[in-house]
Amino acid sequence: MQGNRYPVTAAAGRNLQDGKYRWKAAVITLSDKGYAGKREDRSGPLICEMIKEAGYDVEEMILLPDEKEEIKKCLCTLCDRRKVDIILTTGGTGFAPRDCTPEATMEAAERNAPGIAEAMRLASLKVTPRAMLSRGVSVIRGKTLIINLPGSPKAVRENLEAVLPVLDHGLAILTGRDGECAR
Ligand code: MTE
Repeated sequence: MQGNRYPVTAAAGRNLQDGKYRWKAAVITLSDKGYAGKREDRSGPLICEMIKEAGYDVEEMILLPDEKEEIKKCLCTLCDRRKVDIILTTGGTGFAPRDCTPEATMEAAERNAPGIAEAMRLASLKVTPRAMLSRGVSVIRGKTLIINLPGSPKAVRENLEAVLPVLDHGLAILTGRDGECAR
């Protein structure tokens, strides 16, 4: 797989803890500057920290430039070969000419799951009107959920906090670990 890969040590491959399944996650940071070593990536590590705390195993952490084909290929590999349950991306969702994360994600997508992106923007608009400037999408490929988050650590925290509590149920349905939505 292309891209700069961070060493991932924590609990990878050990997906059961206290009888509870730990979702297999991949985190991708999209940033030309980050990839070139000109800016420290603080958003990827923050996502890892937040989801590990929520009981996920981070199996891959990758840094890529804003190149649509490369991003799409990486997403497809993580879904089809690595078969992670969820991919969280950060960055490249805005209006800058090089921002192409939503386009790459849509090309990898098989089904739309717009409610997650809608919920993130709804919650974020209460914090800043600039939330409307993120074009991030949420989609499904096979049995993998892909969610685009904006690039700044602040935006990552605000967006992820809005949806993280609900993802467990969505993933359980998507992967067939939960047959129905009965409460
Ligand atoms: N969402 C939240 N919750 N908080 C923020 O500070 N920043 C916005 C938006 N979403 C922001 C946010 C801004 S300023 C931009 S330009 C877009 O996300 C796109 O960010 P990206 O290009 O880094 O992905």
